[in-house]
Amino acid sequence: MKADIEKLNKARKKAKELLAKMNINEKVGQLSQFGRSIYGGVESYYEDHYKEGKIGSYLGVTGANKTNMVQKNLMSETPHNIPAIFAYDVIHGYKTTFPTPLTQSFSWDTNVVRECASVSAKEAYAAGVKWTFAPMVDIARDPRWGRIMEGYGEDPYLCSEMAKAAVEGYQGDFIGQKDKVIACAKHFVTYGACIGGRDYNSADMSLQTLHDVYIPPFKAAFDAGAATCMAAFNDFNGVPCTCNKYLLKDVLRKQLGFDGVVISDAGAVVELIPHNVCDNVKDAVDLAFNAGIDIIMAFDPFNDNIPELVEEGRINIEDVDKAVERVLVIKELLGLFDDPFVEEEGEQCFFSPEHRAVARDSARRSVVLLKNEEKVLPIEKGAKIALIGPLAENKADVLGSWAGLCEPEKTITVMEGIAGAYGWEKVFYAKGCDIDSSDKSGFDEALHIAKQADVVILAVGESRDMSGEACCRSDLRLPGVQEELISKIAETGKPICAIVFAGRPIVMESWKDSVKSILFAGQTGTETGNAVADIISGEYNPSGRLTCTFPYSVGQIPIYYSALNTGRPALGKIRFEAKYMDAPIEPAYCFGYGLSYTEFEYSNLKLSKKEINKDEFLDISVNVKNIGEFDGEEVVQLYVRDLIGTSARPMKELKGFKKVFVKKGETVKVEFRLHALSLAFHNFDMEYVIEPGEFKIMIGKSSQDIVLEDNFYVKEGII
Ligand code: NOJ
Repeated sequence: MKADIEKLNKARKKAKELLAKMNINEKVGQLSQFGRSIYGGVESYYEDHYKEGKIGSYLGVTGANKTNMVQKNLMSETPHNIPAIFAYDVIHGYKTTFPTPLTQSFSWDTNVVRECASVSAKEAYAAGVKWTFAPMVDIARDPRWGRIMEGYGEDPYLCSEMAKAAVEGYQGDFIGQKDKVIACAKHFVTYGACIGGRDYNSADMSLQTLHDVYIPPFKAAFDAGAATCMAAFNDFNGVPCTCNKYLLKDVLRKQLGFDGVVISDAGAVVELIPHNVCDNVKDAVDLAFNAGIDIIMAFDPFNDNIPELVEEGRINIEDVDKAVERVLVIKELLGLFDDPFVEEEGEQCFFSPEHRAVARDSARRSVVLLKNEEKVLPIEKGAKIALIGPLAENKADVLGSWAGLCEPEKTITVMEGIAGAYGWEKVFYAKGCDIDSSDKSGFDEALHIAKQADVVILAVGESRDMSGEACCRSDLRLPGVQEELISKIAETGKPICAIVFAGRPIVMESWKDSVKSILFAGQTGTETGNAVADIISGEYNPSGRLTCTFPYSVGQIPIYYSALNTGRPALGKIRFEAKYMDAPIEPAYCFGYGLSYTEFEYSNLKLSKKEINKDEFLDISVNVKNIGEFDGEEVVQLYVRDLIGTSARPMKELKGFKKVFVKKGETVKVEFRLHALSLAFHNFDMEYVIEPGEFKIMIGKSSQDIVLEDNFYVKEGII
């Protein structure tokens, strides 16, 4: 937690004073969060509960008017007048909707993530919300998993950088700043590793992978000051994260030094029963609380059971006091005791021009140009455009799944954006088909307008409820008859630019050769149409790069760039290699991939030293020249390979990236600093080591397109 030390001491004192006055029921109430529930809860303020001091926080009660009203009543009637915290999932916007986190990560720009979080926090704060359940910093390497849209992709380094930026944006420099909300790093831990990409499923992995891949983004979020952490739903190596003492005590509290509040996920404590680690709610509460859960999300199980468990000696009252103290400290740091209300006029900031400007810029910086044959993009002004597809005149689906309070009517559609840029008389629209139905009755009209046009833009993809929580897919192709629509339109011979809106990587093999250009937009939010039009028209030169691997087929999953070489790498030399008989081993589009309207040339890779020891760092520089026709941004990527290790080491690991703007014809020098510590990993015996030896530095335009490389040595490692 990051807090002003004086304020922190004052908050602790206040918490202790209050604790001394509270009875056990009132204490446990502070550890109970109430709100809507997947198990049928409706919005209610649970007056009977707060009168008895049984509510510490609310989930999903939002809006300045409503939160003020509830707070006023609660504070006047609850014992000791303790205010509630209002929490909400502000994931990619409160009202103004920003690109989904996965889409934001495609920007490879921490400022984008920080700004989106910061504006989201401002709007949430205005609505009385002081706690968001974001960022989700789960590494995701399986695009079947619907929640891949909520995180920052597959790579621990990139995800860590984004996690830090998000916490800074939401929370600010210390807890309790105006227009800021406390952040929650979730879901601790390995939720993204669910087997088969099926939400809530088990994660089963080595401790090395846990610590080297899945933990680092959490560490980054805590180092940035995240005040809270949410335990994951799934089991890790058989033990549910909600009652996993190793994860919540040894790793989270001891190893990572986390001193904030740990909350369960919704209903997760009671779900310990179907996990089969207990057979009644009381035992579930015992397991979860004693493993380290401070607050239960969703209702009464703590209220109903902890007092008795304390009485029976199964829970120590000192542990209850510690958990309550953590909660009260946060309330005091948030300033809730002195100023529990918000000014209702604050909500006028929703959808303000400034917030829309952030939404537009973050969206256009995040779109990835996957293909651009014959330089179909940008499209010249004056061109006659046929705009076809179920995502073209669509206000809701481009927003993404975690935009609970968004107002779709406020979305700028692709049609509105493109027509705004090219003139309404130049853009002809036909839906063609729905996102997911077998109805092809719209094909004829779509064909008709395609034939009249100079160029066709096809806006295709998923609906917003095809990704997000519990929205996993086993088939990653475009749903419904969209692929057929593309092939029908392609028969006209007109140049096609496809814009794909989706919450996850899409398998495009069957149609990608029939279109000239592909923009992967992800889910771009309120300003979608304007952002897309900026790119199509060349007003903005696309600069997004993928942060997760796009598979060639579902059968390749899980596929990620930082894999091991194996003893039989697929070099096409012998029969018995690590390959598929019916698919390439390469993905369709790799991690780090993305094109620009211009070209960049790299030269002059320089390393400050040839040898470093464990306390040293290496300075690396490279020149990047814009040799094309447009000004543009390049994402310069730094990868490292540990050439010989006691364990097999990944073929590449991202250790740095810089997004730089280079005017056409100009050259910029890009610099990185690589500390020896960033080469450390957990060896087979779970020691955290930097092993001495030779390392390779690779500078790439993507994880596959390595353009310059050099080697260096670590002469003295640590064990
Ligand atoms: C369940 C989700 O897993 C979690 O991320 C979210 O914060 C809670 N529900 C509250 O909505």
